[in-house]
Amino acid sequence: MTDLPMPTIRRDVLTPDMLAASSCSTGLVAAPWTIDQQGPAYGPGASESDQIPVNAPVQGSIPEEYRKASDEELHERIARAKATLGDRVVVLGHFYQRDEIVQHADFLGDSFQLARAALTKQDAEYIVFCGVHFMAETADILSKPEQAVVLPNLAAGCSMADMADVAGVEDCWEQLGSVLGDLSTPDETGKMPVIPITYMNSSAALKAFVGRHGGVVCTSSNAEVVLEKAFQKAHRVLFFPDQHLGRNTGRAMGIPLEKMPMWKPNQPLGGYGNTADSLRDSKVILWHGFCSVHERFTVEQVEAARAAFPNVRVIAHPECPMEVIDAADEAGSTDYIQRAVKSAEPGTVFAIGTEITMVNRLAQQHPEHTIFCLDPVVCPCSTMYRIHPAYLAWVLEELVAGRIVNQISVPEDQARDAKLALDRMLEAAPRK
Ligand code: 13P
Ligand code: SF4
Repeated sequence: MTDLPMPTIRRDVLTPDMLAASSCSTGLVAAPWTIDQQGPAYGPGASESDQIPVNAPVQGSIPEEYRKASDEELHERIARAKATLGDRVVVLGHFYQRDEIVQHADFLGDSFQLARAALTKQDAEYIVFCGVHFMAETADILSKPEQAVVLPNLAAGCSMADMADVAGVEDCWEQLGSVLGDLSTPDETGKMPVIPITYMNSSAALKAFVGRHGGVVCTSSNAEVVLEKAFQKAHRVLFFPDQHLGRNTGRAMGIPLEKMPMWKPNQPLGGYGNTADSLRDSKVILWHGFCSVHERFTVEQVEAARAAFPNVRVIAHPECPMEVIDAADEAGSTDYIQRAVKSAEPGTVFAIGTEITMVNRLAQQHPEHTIFCLDPVVCPCSTMYRIHPAYLAWVLEELVAGRIVNQISVPEDQARDAKLALDRMLEAAPRK
């Protein structure tokens, strides 16, 4: 079994202090089933120290023949099973997936594109989703009821998505009601007091909450469009779970920081010194959530990249902290990043602030450029890596045998409400 693809480690952009402060345990990613046996855990990688919910989905053991198979054997078995299933199956993959998975994907994309693909690939009986849990839930909600969505490893969650739960958001909503008045009716100006917006990286239960309360889902590629539309209908928005995407988008729209208070779940008025007046005066209320992959990026890394390559083009994903986005040249979704690389003049130097697997793939695919990850320490997303070819081979061969394993089924009432919020998202196409 091979280990992680060789990363582009730029030791020349590392200062000794940065090296000492950065570390990442990348062990075990070659054999995620060893982590599966330990119960709920994100596993090694950027989210290793995040708190995983006790009821997080756990992946049961897969047959030994898959765990013992060589890379070549797994590759052949996946290809054979896909050929046997033909048009009955479609494999969707996120840009952060391993190369060994990406080569089998029928469609590769960012979260918005994958949601749209799930909606449009209506002829396939099975959608095998190579990404994380919230993406597979979304695919189940948007696909037809007779289609089955399969997540090859059930433990492929997202620590950021787990930072907001329904109880915490309902409590927040109730507290906002006590400050802002009736949240279900427009005021004398015709606008709602507040609209909930959830980032795609959230559970189906939260998307349902948002759908029930007139809100909308957004992704990193259409957040600004979604916020603009929301402000036509409401005085403010409650944005969860990613504080950084919310803050970065709000700032790009000219909203001052003092109008974007943070909300810590289950605290009176969300803690952070919030008062009824500061909440009334707010435009974007930001949930206290973040992505541990993107929080690793720092201004020092940007400065080090510029010192090593004065002509460097720095692009960061909007899940990065605001200071990093300010220091970068551009910010955008995973699709934006890969399009920027594809369309650049040969010889461009890119320092990219997003997940290492995608950055390494871009570096391999574009030898005409110099491409490296802003974080020089190899630290993958702990959960994207859980989709190993052994799981993909297993779920596909089970489908060939007429058995659906690892199906993601969102309860009907939840799916109905969540779909309202997802349909509103799909109406807000990203600006290119
Ligand atoms: P994109 O929508 O940009 O693909 O982002 C998804 C994600 O999880 C990034 O961490
Ligand atoms: Fe979640 Fe971050 Fe991984 Fe994206 S990169 S799936 S936000 S933990």
